[in-house]
Formats: sequence, C-alpha cells, structure tokens
Amino acid sequence: MTHRTVAIGGNWKMNLSRREAVELARAVAASLSDLEAPVQVTLYPPFPYLIPVGEALAGSPVRLGAQDLHPAASGAYTGEVSAAMLRDIGVVSVLTGHSERRHDIGETPEFVGRKTHAALSAGLETVLCVGELLEEREVGRTEEIVIAQLDAGLSGVTADLASRLIIAYEPVWAIGTGRTARPGDAQAVHAAIRSWVREQMGDRVAASLRIEYGGSVKPATAPGLASEPDIDGFLVGGASLSADDFHEIIRAAVAARSPVSP
Ligand code: 13P
Repeated sequence: MTHRTVAIGGNWKMNLSRREAVELARAVAASLSDLEAPVQVTLYPPFPYLIPVGEALAGSPVRLGAQDLHPAASGAYTGEVSAAMLRDIGVVSVLTGHSERRHDIGETPEFVGRKTHAALSAGLETVLCVGELLEEREVGRTEEIVIAQLDAGLSGVTADLASRLIIAYEPVWAIGTGRTARPGDAQAVHAAIRSWVREQMGDRVAASLRIEYGGSVKPATAPGLASEPDIDGFLVGGASLSADDFHEIIRAAVAARSPVSP
C-alpha cells in the first residue's frame, strides 16, 4: 500500500457551453460526497469558464485547474495567460506539455520546460504530460522519448519545486482513440518515470510523486490500471464530460488503493 493520495483530473479540453460547464462542475462536486477514502479531484475547464466553474465548486473539495499558461510573468504576449493571473482567480493546478499542444500547436520540449518551471515557481501544482507516438512505441522507443520529455520538461526543477509536481503519462496513440494502454504496459512506463525521478531528485520525491495515466480511461478500464503500483490516478478527457462516468472512474481508483477487508 502506498501513502500517495490518488489524484484524478478531468481535462475538459475545448468542450461545453458555460451553462453545461457549471452544471457538470456542480454534479462532480455533489457526487464526491459518498467517497470515504481521500482523493484529490481537479477539473480543467476552458479558460472562459474558469471563474464560473470556480464559483460552482466553492465550498466543495473539488479543485480548479487550468489547461495551459504562458511562462512569462506579464507583458506583450497577446492571447496568453500567466501563472499569477491563474492564481488570482483561484486556480491551484495547471497542465503543461499536453500532446495536443506539443503536436497540434507545435510547442517544443524547451517551451514546455519553461512553462513547467514558471508554474511550479509561481506556486501552482503542475501536471507535466509526457507520452510517445504510436510509431515511436512500435519501434521500441517509448522509454527514450518519455525520458527526453522529462529531461527537457523538468530542466532546472529542484526537489523542492517538485513537491508540487505531478507527471501524467499519456501515450498519444491512446488519447481520444478508445484504445487504452494495457495495465502492464502503462505500469512499465510509470516505473521508468519514477526511477528517472529517483535518480534526478532523490528517494523522497520519487516516493511521494503522483504519476497519473491518461488516454481513453473509461469506467471499464480504470480498475485494472488503478491496481498497478505506480499508477496513482488518472487524467481523463472524454469520460470526464459525463459526471457519472467520471465518478465511476474516481471510485475505481480509490477502491484500488483502499485496504481490502480480511
Ligand atoms: P481521452 O480520455 O479523451 O483519451 O483524453 C485523455 C487526455 O488527453 C487527458 O488529458
């Protein structure tokens, strides 16, 4: 049994209307009341809905997260949002390095590193996403790619800053495809990530760091993945748009970490 608290994120991506976002946030907050074990649940709505969703979550244990940020503190960066602005409106967590930003928007590994460092330094919990493409997995390069993303993404991140870090392993071929990684395959990458963290940042950070799995997580696939020792939670896309599915995934993750009665 690990002492790490299960962490579950709902990445809503570019979906929902303002009304739907507020309703979904309320439904997620209400659904958590029947969970006994500790769990950390964070919602990542689109930027325009951060404030109304934050208001809907007020007084509930569900946390407010943002999908992106700019590394600079302020200045002439049209269209961008800083860590301080996010904190100012109650955001406590932010995603960096999501594959949709690496591959569709063209963010480089170095830029992801600047964002991650800026977010951690500003006091935000930061979920650095890493993961390989299908063609990279097929030629056996998964670990090499993930380690290179960690090297660039966490450049300059000390053990102290890493106390606010979460890493999400999201194989690109599993995102939005309905194709989930097999639990053993995901566990192997999570274990490699944890050993890299141990080498770079020491035993204490490696033991406490949460590593989430993301990529077509559904109520049916969550229990198998969550029972792996280095899978500490999930970053959920499509299924987080349904309060019922998201709740089932949370329950499965919590149940996998709870002591089994004799
Ligand atoms: P899906 O769960 O829709 O595959 O998305 C995963 C993801 O990208 C979460 O950040």
